[in-house]
Amino acid sequence: MKTVNLYQFNGDPRVPRPWRQCLLEIYEFCNTAVRPFYREAAEAAIGRARDKGLDTIVELGAGHGPLTRLMVEDPRAEGLRFVVCDLIPAVDQYQELERRYPGKVTAITESVDFSRPREWGRGALLLLCAAIHHVPDEARSEVIRAMSVSAGGVMVFVPVRKTWLSLVLSLLIVFPALALPIGFIKRPGTLRRILWCWLLPVVPLMAGWDALGGVLRQWSDVQWRCAIAEQTGGNRKPEINNGLNQQMIAW
Ligand SMILES: C[S@@+](CC[C@H](N)C(=O)[O-])C[C@H]1O[C@@H](n2cnc3c(N)ncnc32)[C@H](O)[C@@H]1O
Repeated sequence: MKTVNLYQFNGDPRVPRPWRQCLLEIYEFCNTAVRPFYREAAEAAIGRARDKGLDTIVELGAGHGPLTRLMVEDPRAEGLRFVVCDLIPAVDQYQELERRYPGKVTAITESVDFSRPREWGRGALLLLCAAIHHVPDEARSEVIRAMSVSAGGVMVFVPVRKTWLSLVLSLLIVFPALALPIGFIKRPGTLRRILWCWLLPVVPLMAGWDALGGVLRQWSDVQWRCAIAEQTGGNRKPEINNGLNQQMIAW
């Protein structure tokens, strides 16, 4: 399947806030209630931080932070510290996490661009979940280099693959998107969800479009291995775990 850099609504600061909130909630709903993707990612990240002796997990491109929330609440994360940030930070949610877990979570409320190097420290594990496809193909190697020099370890979680099966499954996101007002009925924001998922259902369509773009932008194992070897001078051995509809790359 050809790599096509389709426009992505999520990650565009011009997208109105209520739409972005609904989009992020749809990902959370899909990856927690429909499939256990975030829970598996959280377990894998905590396990790797422990195995590699890293003390801090920095979630880049964290959206509104559902993965960090899961990790923080996991008893195996005892003693680990967490940082949560995004290009378009969800300030309220990050601050709420920081308040609830003082000393354990650091909320960065200014914009953090993961494509730029930043000194996170050798004890940091950088985490990118459902976000690498925001980087166009030609810029991805540079982002791999930036992340590699910025911390002791990097993990990238991808909730899709570049396969026909994944393409079909990803387009089914429209159904959980339509179910969002019911799925998240206990959370504040029901009127917003009813408006943008039911009455004027632009967000389910945006989610479908982003999912399509997400699949078409994924890399094969060979592309990942070559880019990581090139950008780290062969100093970090990549580990790649593939599922039918997900991928994890760590180095
Ligand atoms: C599909 S959302 C996934 C959010 C979250 N990781 C999750 O799994 O729920 C992708 C996120 O990547 C962020 N993003 C895109 N490009 C970025 C960049 N260059 N630096 C930091 N974050 C970025 C977007 O703002 C968006 O929140």
